[in-house]
Order: sequence, then structure tokens, then C-alpha cells
Amino acid sequence: TETTVHDYFNRPLRDLRISVTDRCNFRCTYCMPAEIFGPDYPFLKRDELLSFEELERLTKIFVHSLGVQKIRITGGEPLMRRDLTELIRRIKKIHGVEDIAMTTNGSLLPKYAKGLKEAGLKRVSISLDSLKDEIFGKINGRGVSVQTVLEGIDAASKAGLQVKINMVVKKGMNDSEIIPMAKFFREKGHILRFIEFMDVGNTNQWKLDDVVPKKQIIEDINKIMPLEPIDPNYTGEVASRYRYVGSDVEIGVISSVSDAFCSTCNRARLSASGMLYTCLFASKGHDIKSPLRSDLTDEQLTTLLQDIWNGRKDRYSEERSVVGKNRKKIEMSHIGG
Ligand code: GTP
Ligand code: 5AD
Ligand code: SF4
Ligand code: SF4
Repeated sequence: TETTVHDYFNRPLRDLRISVTDRCNFRCTYCMPAEIFGPDYPFLKRDELLSFEELERLTKIFVHSLGVQKIRITGGEPLMRRDLTELIRRIKKIHGVEDIAMTTNGSLLPKYAKGLKEAGLKRVSISLDSLKDEIFGKINGRGVSVQTVLEGIDAASKAGLQVKINMVVKKGMNDSEIIPMAKFFREKGHILRFIEFMDVGNTNQWKLDDVVPKKQIIEDINKIMPLEPIDPNYTGEVASRYRYVGSDVEIGVISSVSDAFCSTCNRARLSASGMLYTCLFASKGHDIKSPLRSDLTDEQLTTLLQDIWNGRKDRYSEERSVVGKNRKKIEMSHIGG
């Protein structure tokens, strides 16, 4: 459409990922390791967060004047933000929003799923890395049981939300769970996506050696349950999709390390504190909160955001082997993946 902005490599902006809190009730080793995110960690205070009014105003500008069509709510754990259902309700009302999704650890869904659906949420991606309490409790850093998340998954389905399951795969941590997870969610009929462990942030001790590449994940599953590739749902979809032969259940693999999908990347990420990041691996963001809290008009804010996207040159996955080692990066818990 005429309102779409394009970046330096001519990539449009389509997808806005809004992080609503930097807090989480889990301490996943690959995201918020407990040694670093301890009791004294300086989480954002309430007045440092963008308010729902501010988020609504910004979202309107992104959708009406910059070409955004999809909104995804992330965290930290987004359901830790008080009254989140109210934000969904406000976003749902914005004309031009075609899709509202949320990425969550699932633990609070039994409490909120029904209300979220009623407010207009369409889809949830729920993270679950293992079906064994011993493994999962260690990964989530808080001993949370598998059952807790399974109850969240069931609550979401029951409420009528579309559900996908995200499994981060790290060698030696949970690669033994690839097949059990695949079997379990094939039976349940939920889309399971395997995510290659990524070098997001600076605290998760990432090593290339810890990555189980997409090729191996697919080969291992295919030996037991034959797979066939299927086409992407939309341009720029990060997961490559496969179907179990003879069924209509699918899986996905998000191979941000072994492939680079930067050439079609149309995502902007807004942190809970109001910084805009044009890449998951950005070393710095653009302050939107200060201009938002000064007396800029919507037109002036639009120009500011357009200029940021126009100047965007990010393509980290394509450059990782050259620039990856020394770059200081934003933490996953600030931009929600
Ligand atoms: P759909 O809208 O259903 O296609 O969901 P999605 O896969 O875009 O969203 P989700 O939050 O479930 O994404 C899963 C994970 O994929 C994220 O948490 C990230 O770890 C990774 N991911 C998503 N977008 C990008 C991206 O642009 N670049 C990289 N490197 N990884 C991404
Ligand atoms: N590598 C890959 N995926 C990650 N996630 C969090 N940290 C990492 C990482 N280092 C996943 C979560 C969730 C989504 C927000 O991103 O498990 O599914
Ligand atoms: Fe929390 Fe999700 Fe990060 Fe785990 S991956 S610590 S659940 S935000
Ligand atoms: Fe987009 Fe950055 Fe991921 Fe490339 S590395 S796909 S530019 S978020």
C-alpha cells in the first residue's frame, strides 16, 4: 500500500513486536540466567514502561502510516504485565490490524486465556523445551513443572486461540527431547517449532557447537515419522514448514543460525521501555519514549519512525561469522525474541 515504508535494502515494515515487560516468572538458562537476573537485578519501574495509552498511540501510527499489519505481544513474560487483556482490547480496535499474537511461557494462561480471546487475541506461541520435569525444571531455572505449561496449552486451545509450541533446541540440554516432543504434539495436533539456539544478548554463553542444525533435526524426525516440506504461509515467515506424510499435522524449524532470513525480514521490535530495535541482534535502539513524552504531533512521530526504518541496514544472521564475536547485543528479555 501507499503507506508502507521500506528500509535501505527495500524491505517493507509489516510486523511490530511489542515487549510489554522485562520481567518473567521463569529464568531460562538461554534467556535470563538466574545468576545474572537475580533478586537485585534492576528491572524497569512502572513509570519507565510505555503506558497502554502510549502503546495504543504508537500502534495506530505504525498501522495507519507505516504499513504494519501484524502485532505480536512479547516480554519477558507478557502476562506478568498487569491488565494486559485491556491492551489487547485496545489494539484489536485499531483498523488495519490483521493479526494479534502473543509469545508466552504459558504458565499464566489458565488464568487469562479466555479473557484474552474475548479481547481479540488470535494466536499464542507457547514455549516448552522438554516433556521431562527433570530437564524442563533445570532449563526454566525455577523448577516449574511440565504439567503447568501443558495446562496453559490446553486452556489456550479450549479458549479458541490458535496455538503453536516453540522449543529451543540446545545440544546436550534437550536434544534428546526432539523425538518425544515431536510424537507428543503430533498426537495432540499442535504445530511444534524447533528453534536453533541463538546468540541473542550477551549473557547466555552461546557457542556454535551448542546448535543442533535444522538439517539434523529434520533428518532425525524423518527417520521415524516421514516428513514432506510445505510452502510458507507468507513472505518472510521465519519457520520452514513440514508436514507428517499422510496427516495434516505440521512442524516448523526456525533456523536462524544455519540459514539467514534477513533478506525478507520485515520486523520491528519495541522494548517495554520504549526503545525501537530494527533487529533482534541490534547493539543499540532508537529512543521513542522521549519524543512520545514531549509534545510531538502524530505527523512528527510518523516522520521520526519512517526515518528510522528508511535507514535500516541490519542483516545480522548474514554477518554473524564476521561481526558476531564482539558485538554488544540487546538482551532477549528486553525484546522478546
Ligand atoms: P508466526 O507469526 O506464527 O510466524 O510467529 P513467529 O515465528 O514470527 O513468532 P515467534 O515469537 O513464535 O517466533 C519464534 C522465534 O523465532 C522467536 O522467538 C525468535 O527466537 C525467532 N525469530 C522470530 N523472528 C526472528 C527474526 O526476525 N530473526 C531471527 N534471527 N529470529 C527470529
Ligand atoms: N535462542 C533461541 N530461542 C530463544 N528464545 C529465547 N532465548 C532464545 C535463544 N537464545 C525463545 C523462547 C521463546 C521465544 C521468545 O524465543 O523460548 O520461544
Ligand atoms: Fe521467560 Fe521466555 Fe525468557 Fe524463558 S524464554 S526466561 S520464559 S522470557
Ligand atoms: Fe531480521 Fe536481524 Fe533476524 Fe536478520 S538477524 S532476520 S535482520 S532480526
